[in-house]
This record gives sequence, structure tokens and C-alpha cells, in this order.
Amino acid sequence: MRFDPWSPEFVAYPYDAYAELRQRPVTFFEPTGQWLVARHADVNALLRDRRLGRSYLHVATHAEFGRPEEPPFLDPFWRVVRAGMLDVEPPVHTRLRRLVSRAFTPRMVEALRPKVASIATGLVEDFVARGGGDLIAEVAEPLPVTVIAEMLGVPEADRHLLRPWSADICGMYELNPSPETQRTAVRAAEEFSGYLSELARARRANPGDDLISALALVADGGDTLTEEELVGTCVLLLNAGHEATVNVTGIGWWSLFRNPAELERLRADHGLLPTAIEELMRWDTPLQMFERWVLEDISVGGVNIPRGAEVALLFGSANRDPEVFADPDRLDLGRTENPHISFGAGIHFCLGAPLARIELAESFGALLRLAPRMELATEPTWNPGYVIRGLTALETRV
Ligand code: HEM
Repeated sequence: MRFDPWSPEFVAYPYDAYAELRQRPVTFFEPTGQWLVARHADVNALLRDRRLGRSYLHVATHAEFGRPEEPPFLDPFWRVVRAGMLDVEPPVHTRLRRLVSRAFTPRMVEALRPKVASIATGLVEDFVARGGGDLIAEVAEPLPVTVIAEMLGVPEADRHLLRPWSADICGMYELNPSPETQRTAVRAAEEFSGYLSELARARRANPGDDLISALALVADGGDTLTEEELVGTCVLLLNAGHEATVNVTGIGWWSLFRNPAELERLRADHGLLPTAIEELMRWDTPLQMFERWVLEDISVGGVNIPRGAEVALLFGSANRDPEVFADPDRLDLGRTENPHISFGAGIHFCLGAPLARIELAESFGALLRLAPRMELATEPTWNPGYVIRGLTALETRV
């Protein structure tokens, strides 16, 4: 099996192809024009290297980078995406991240734990009362969606809109998105930003005890978010705040069902949960790849990569690198030396990592307690996406 991000077989099991790619420091991948980086040390170093960026537009035009102009119909999409911290670089990134980060410190999110625990328990109790079902639709999705929507103050009646908008926008993060994917993403970006502009206006006039109100009114040493930044930030938080957590939950349980001895080990000792969650995120990684633009010439393992090139950092491969992880293909829920890269590294390191860890601990914990004999009902199928990787459903019996 070769690196083929459009093949369902590869998406389901990319790890043999990664082992082959790790034989070399980089491999040029013609179909996307990117340099694939497969080793942990290189992925980790490049994420922290300021000669690379998620964008180049702060230092060069498209023409200067040898890239085509973006078609104007994509403007509404890029306006929203580039107004959030994930797709900008310093100094704008530093400013946006500082304004938002105080809501996400480990201490702030730890205070949310009782609330997260009670939402998780409620969802799992209903799930058990129904005799099981699709774990993704009934537990994995509603937990993080509810938590992030409550943090931001999105009214309950509107929350069903968030998943489809997010999925449509995230389609653009896959490799070579089709024209249909692009049009769908533009429509979602327009609707989502229109919705959030309205909500922010209402909160500015009539603030509540929520993050949209706090961000709308922020006056940090005279610094404020523009309307566009506020909307872009909320879109980012609402999307990033649930997509990967849903997929970690689904893939994580599927990994446990595929490793029954490890599942029994966890059932016998719930104290393993903290290392188990890190290991599940390492062993079958939800976000397989992140891209970076090369802003100044670099060298990776002796191969020169010039300014203007793009590298694709293969997180799923880094997480199975035998140079860093003993017996990397083995799922070991007690693994303590586990410097996995699933939350990234460097300035864009996941802002929501402490919150994600609490959500995962509470949902896995509630399922272990309340559904102690949960088993797989049907073999799951994978979504087509490779970059944002997840199962379509996980049918279970309790
Ligand atoms: C298990 C679940 C999660 C995983 C695996 C994950 C993973 C990641 C990764 C890999 C990045 C960095 C991307 C890059 O460097 O290009 C990132 C960034 C980010 N994540 Fe998460 N994430 C998760 C949950 C969350 C949650 C719950 C939130 C809640 C708000 C969140 C908010 C963010 C934000 C705002 C960024 C951008 C940070 C920046 O650009 O400075 N994530 N995430």
C-alpha cells in the first residue's frame, strides 16, 4: 500500500505506507506538489520552526510565492478562516491567541469538569437505556458540541446547525478539494458567519455570561477584536472545539474493540484512563496531516526545500515512529513515555487540549462505568476524509 490519501483502504490503515515513507527524510508527492515528512523528530522540529507558517500571506503575495490567485468566489470562505488564529502567523496570531487563551487555561477548563461530567453521564445513561446504538451520533458528537456551544453561548435551539456547517467548512482541509466541496464550504462560511455576526451583535447589546459576550466586549489594554476577527474566532472555536474530539471518541472505542485484551485491562482498572486516552490518540491518530508553507529555505535530513514549497507533516506516521516509541504498532494503554504529536506543537499547539482531555476522560469514564459490557454490533466504515479522519458510525450493544 502506497501513500494515497484518496483511497479508502489507505485511510483505514495508512501505517504500512508510513513505515515505508520513514525510510527517507522527505518524499515529494506529485499529486499535491507537497513534500511529505514522516519522521517524528522532523515533524516535531518543523512544527516549532518559525521559517515555516500555516500561511505565507503575511510575507508574500500569491504571485511572489508562485501560486495562482484565489478564485474570487472563495472570498467568503477565506475571510472567515483567515480571521481566526489557526490560519494566521505572528504578530496577528500572537494577539488573537492571547485574547482567547485565558478562557482555555488548564485552571479555567478544570472548573468546567463537573458540567462536562454531568453532560457525559446524561448522554451515556440515555444511550444505555436504549440498549446502545451509534456511539458517535449519541455520545461522541453531542458531548463536545454541547460543551463548546454552552461555553460560547450558542442557544440550544440552534445547535443542530453547528455540525453541518463545520463539516462543510472542514471539507476544504482535505487535499485538492473538488469544486463542489469548495462551493459547499463557501455557502457554509457565509451562513455561519452571518449567524454569528447576529449573535455577537445581540450579545454586545445585552451581554451574558458566555465567551461570545466576553470576546465581543474584550478590551485588553485597549485591544479589541474586529467584527471579522470575532466571527472568525467563534467559527474556529466551534469547529475545532468538536471535530477532533468526536473522531477520537469513535476511533478510540473502535481501537479498544480491535484490542480486546487492552479493553479488558482498562475495564479492570479505570485508573489507566489518563494514559489510555493519550495512547488511543497516538495509536490511531484522528488528524493525520497538517501542512506548512516554507517561508525561508530549509533543509530536512540533508534535503534542501526552498522558500515557496509546501510540506505535509504526517502526524499519524510520527506517532508510530520506532525511533521514539517502543513497539509502536502495539496499543499499550499503560504507556507512560508517550510524546505523541496529536495536539501539534509550537505556536499553533492545540488551544483546546486541556478541554479535549477532560471531555474524553469523562465520556470514556462514563461508558466504562455505565456500559461495562458494551460491544461492537457491526464493523464500522471510515469517512472518506484523510486529513480529518473519523468513522461514519460505531454501532454497539450494551
Ligand atoms: C482530541 C481533540 C483535539 C485534537 C486532536 C486537536 C488537535 C489540534 C491540532 C493538531 C492543532 C494544531 C494544528 C496545526 O498546528 O496546524 C489544533 C489547534 C487548535 N485547536 Fe485543537 N484539537 C482537539 C480539540 C480541541 C478543542 C476541544 C478545542 C476547543 C476550543 C480546540 C481548539 C483549537 C484551536 C483554537 C486551535 C488553533 C490554535 C492556534 O492556531 O494557535 N481543539 N488542535
